Amino acid sequence: MNVKKVFVVGAGFMGSGIVENVAAKGLTAVAYDISQEQLEKSRKGIVKNLERQVSRGKLKEQEKEATLSRISYVTDLASCSDADVIIEAASENKAVKVRIMKELEQYAKEDAIIASNTSSISITALGREFKDPQRFIGMHFFSPVPKIPLMEIVRGYQTGDRTIEVASQLGEYLGKTCILAEDEAGFIVNRMLIPMLNEACVLVERKIGTIEEIDMGMKRGLNHPMGPLELMDMIGIDVELAVMEVLHEEIGDPKYRPAVSLRRMVDAGFLGKKAGVGFYVYEEDGTKYPNPRLLEIR
Ligand SMILES: NC(=O)c1ccc[n+]([C@@H]2O[C@H](COP(=O)([O-])OP(=O)(O)OC[C@H]3O[C@@H](n4cnc5c(N)ncnc54)[C@H](O)[C@@H]3O)[C@@H](O)[C@H]2O)c1
Repeated sequence: MNVKKVFVVGAGFMGSGIVENVAAKGLTAVAYDISQEQLEKSRKGIVKNLERQVSRGKLKEQEKEATLSRISYVTDLASCSDADVIIEAASENKAVKVRIMKELEQYAKEDAIIASNTSSISITALGREFKDPQRFIGMHFFSPVPKIPLMEIVRGYQTGDRTIEVASQLGEYLGKTCILAEDEAGFIVNRMLIPMLNEACVLVERKIGTIEEIDMGMKRGLNHPMGPLELMDMIGIDVELAVMEVLHEEIGDPKYRPAVSLRRMVDAGFLGKKAGVGFYVYEEDGTKYPNPRLLEIR
């Protein structure tokens, strides 16, 4: 594989995970964000994750230091000019991503491939922003990125074969099993997952079970490692809502129409783990309990 340097646009939950994964596998990783505060949060989060692995005996101290030394944090998009692969992991908003794509093309080197980690926005539509849409592809990681061994490679209508080859090689190098999805809303996994998560919100609204019982149902009954409400808190309630809206608009089927409570949670700032409150409240000491405000809703 010829990829040596990966530039990641957006150092939020996913961008940070991608940067950590890339650096842990020995490649140079650059995290870019418009927010300096977010970059600092990202850096601290990566250090914490690696320290946890050292304390559990899964990583040597020197490996942790070597991984950290391969990561840099920048607020200047022009620094992508020597990257072999650029992965966009900014907020799930088409206008934001289109603006980024337009800017990226000014700086990216000619043979760099450019990918988006979007969960729902059309790769073909974003690819239109490039003079050469063949260089653009979807590399859809799953959270938490360093742990989950799947990547959906999403082929836009104009994605070139070399781009698919480079993205797949990088995915495999990062320890992922790559599955190829065509460019339809939700790709493969979210197409199936989203209606299930949405229905879990409806169960909460209708008080069919408590928040903990709904999660327990899927964990014990179907052997899922996390319940749907825990999963939504991890992914981010705002991210889930944005993805559902795109799926609902594109596919039209009512099963993708976001539950009302999901919209209200975003309005209330109950954005999940990253905000300290979602379906659960997350305390500093790592404990969590069901969000009392949601229990009060009639
Ligand atoms: N959360 C998940 O589990 C998950 C899983 C797979 C894919 N995704 C996708 O990954 C992307 C990022 O999701 P996230 O959960 O990390 O969101 P997030 O809200 O945690 O992070 C988004 C980051 O983008 C930054 N940003 C916004 N505008 C920017 C710009 N113009 N330039 C650079 N950075 C900018 C923000 O400052 C923020 O740090 C989305 O497209 C989402 O659909 C998310």
